[in-house]
Amino acid sequence: MSKICLCLTGKTIKQDVELLSKYRNYTDIAELRVDCLEPGERLHIRRFPELAGVPVILTVRRDVDGGYFTGGEGARLKLLANGLAYANADSRFNFAYVDIEEDFNVPSLEEAARTFGTRIIRSCHDLDGSVTDVSAKMKALKRSGDEIVKVAVAVKNTNDVLNVYRTSGSFTNQDKILICMGHYGIYSRILAEKFGSFLTYSSALSENVTPGAPGQMDVKVLSELYHFRKITKKTKVYGIIGNPLKKSVSPWFHNNILNLEDADAVYVPFPITDIGDFMELAKGIDIQGLSVTVPYKEAILPYLGEKSEIVQTIGACNTIYRKENVWVGENTDYVGFTLSLLNFLNKKNLKRQKITILGAGGVARAVASEVFNMGGKALILNRTPQKAKEIAEMYKFRWGGLDTNGIELMSKYNDIIIQTTSVGMEGYDDSDPAELYTFTGKEAVMDLIYTPPQTPFLKRAADAGCKTLNGYDMVIRQASLQYVNFFGREIPKNHLAQIEALGENQWDKIISA
Ligand code: ATR
Repeated sequence: MSKICLCLTGKTIKQDVELLSKYRNYTDIAELRVDCLEPGERLHIRRFPELAGVPVILTVRRDVDGGYFTGGEGARLKLLANGLAYANADSRFNFAYVDIEEDFNVPSLEEAARTFGTRIIRSCHDLDGSVTDVSAKMKALKRSGDEIVKVAVAVKNTNDVLNVYRTSGSFTNQDKILICMGHYGIYSRILAEKFGSFLTYSSALSENVTPGAPGQMDVKVLSELYHFRKITKKTKVYGIIGNPLKKSVSPWFHNNILNLEDADAVYVPFPITDIGDFMELAKGIDIQGLSVTVPYKEAILPYLGEKSEIVQTIGACNTIYRKENVWVGENTDYVGFTLSLLNFLNKKNLKRQKITILGAGGVARAVASEVFNMGGKALILNRTPQKAKEIAEMYKFRWGGLDTNGIELMSKYNDIIIQTTSVGMEGYDDSDPAELYTFTGKEAVMDLIYTPPQTPFLKRAADAGCKTLNGYDMVIRQASLQYVNFFGREIPKNHLAQIEALGENQWDKIISA
């Protein structure tokens, strides 16, 4: 089983010991990053294994390999030799592993390590993605039988990850560490067991320490949310594909439910750059189901063997799951939105309701179709009026721009206002898409954005006395529907209630997809 290695990047030995004792329950192996210690502290590393109480890797990472050590090779050799000196007959008092880069050639040091049972991790850090043949690199690295070969590749795209995965398959009978560094490789760290990696590196990110390498996950999130130690070769894999997929509530939601059910399954964020490469990888890892988000909702269609009626009608798919040997495509966005809106309004349909839809993108298209199906009459306003016109004409709705004329029309369509543009979204634009509109306080206002929980637009509506709802409820409803597709069963009500009790903003604190 793959192990969790906690990278200790404190400035002092004391800091590292404290960090380790705080996160010991999540740690199988610790890595003492000597390069992060202050120079004076480096003199005291020999005692660290005894203080740690878990197997420790001795590492002095150079800046050229992505670390912080800037001294010469002589100084580095001295540190390593110091760490391995005075070997104790009781191996718990020695470093269990020493990380030595491929170009490090000091046979006497390696011999000393071997004599006292310190295993050598022979490492290569490919920070610029120049290693194209990972397999050849692995072969070239290994010098003697008991060494663990480590290749850490900074991946630029999904194809790089696929290459690393394939490489792993041809080295099944040896301990190896394979890491895809960076955002597009994040799932290789969670699925280290599936990638055949001896361990995965993580950091205590919530402690504001220097991360050991780009893309490392928080050790607590890895252990508790992704239950890393329970992932075996048999564990069923689900997840969400998207790009950039920097933030998503789905891994938090699904894993919490899976943990409550004690299911042998994990739900992983898959930021991907190429859907074809990823579907190849999905076969290898034996993925059972996926949520599909921007920009792949249409690109996924050619991979489906079966499509639900709604996917056939609208040509967009946000959920796929395996049925025998084919992928079945479903769309839960629409029903999720409708359930959320009707519940918010406490209504069964939208008959006699006059509604303004702000925006005319992909989401607005779905909203307009549902508003029409529920019997509502709508006005669509968009920055680019032509796009509002295209959607409006499908349902005989009215349309306009987000200008004085459009906003004036809004006062005739203001029982319900549904905000679908990206304006107000975290990291995008914190302005107000309808700043010319004055709320009467009687409108029911739904903003589909949920990061932040209250956009400037929604805040203005709430301040004017309107009933308001953000997109969190909708996203949870559509995720619950996805769960039914994935597992063929409803989420037990008491489990949903437990997730609700955690609070709407909880997920945001711990996810780093
Ligand atoms: P989605 O799938 O989330 O709907 P989209 O299809 O890219 O994403 O649509 C984004 C919507 O937000 C569009 O209505 C867009 O208006 P345009 O059609 O004029 O591009 C709207 N939008 C994005 N930025 C905006 C801004 N700064 N002001 C007003 N509307 C904006």
